[in-house]
Amino acid sequence: MSNNYEPTLPMDVFERYLTEALQIYAPASPTLRNAMEYSVSTGGKRFRPMLLLTTALFGKGNVEDAFPAAAALEWIHTYSLIHDDLPAMDDDDFRRGKPTTHKQFNEAVAILAGDALLTAAFTMILNQESISYEKRVLLAKALGEAAGPNGMVAGQMNDIEGEEKELSLEQLAAIHQKKTGELIEYALYAGCLLADVPVNATTSLRSYGKHLGLAYQIHNDLKDVLLDTDDSGKEAGRDQVLGKNTYPSLLGVSGAAERLETEIQAAENELEKIRLGADAAVVNVEYLDVLHQLLEYVKIDSGV
Ligand code: IPE
Ligand code: IPE
Ligand code: MG
Ligand code: MG
Repeated sequence: MSNNYEPTLPMDVFERYLTEALQIYAPASPTLRNAMEYSVSTGGKRFRPMLLLTTALFGKGNVEDAFPAAAALEWIHTYSLIHDDLPAMDDDDFRRGKPTTHKQFNEAVAILAGDALLTAAFTMILNQESISYEKRVLLAKALGEAAGPNGMVAGQMNDIEGEEKELSLEQLAAIHQKKTGELIEYALYAGCLLADVPVNATTSLRSYGKHLGLAYQIHNDLKDVLLDTDDSGKEAGRDQVLGKNTYPSLLGVSGAAERLETEIQAAENELEKIRLGADAAVVNVEYLDVLHQLLEYVKIDSGV
């Protein structure tokens, strides 16, 4: 899907920032830098940065002050995909309609490009001189927790350990929450922190992020079942080949679609709580509409 929110969010400016920030790595190894740039630039939706920047604007923050955290988050997301696609993990040759990083370069370069994006993300946040040391530390700490061994990496581990086993719905939800939900919730947390969003609105936005995170992975898994390879940019039907536990594999397509709708509704309810609460008077409430529109990305009505 193309980005429909450019009039509201400066995504074109952010896009330039995201790749220009990699220029400083050129002298060390052109191959490494090329692989980092290739992986970042193959056409991701930038969903997590859109969430983070929207949240910062909701809190009346300066949107450019949110660029480093948004870029760091996208770099970590990109690293997670590079490693996720490796032969030792999901063994995918295509992503976003292009060869995966290990196919375009080789496995060693892909592993190192992932390592580089992961570590560069933390340097990026900790070097940002326009915000306080305290905020930098909090942003880096929470990012480490969301991405690390109790967060995304744990989710990836549990996802692999669950292959060819039948998990309960609770176990599956916990895996999704870690492997996908944590980075999505981080986008909301970081935007709130950067823009000093009041506590009740922050709690609701994080809860919106939790529901959205689960919805995002259910939607991703429905795409694997329902879209063909051309439309999804990835080889279709891989989850079944790999024996993955997914909502469609446990509940069927219509059961998964129902659960997806329930999560979307719960996310909408959190936005409504903010609209009706006292914090609405001190924030830019119109950005709740953008958060509402971003839920379109996980709806299945337009053929997924
Ligand atoms: C794909 O994420 C993997 C998941 C965590 C579900 P996205 O759908 O956000 O991937 P891109 O960056 O837009 O390709
Ligand atoms: C997405 O994993 C989660 C992460 C990469 C952290 P999946 O394996 O379910 O996502 P796709 O289908 O490769 O995009
Ligand atoms: Mg995977
Ligand atoms: Mg995968």
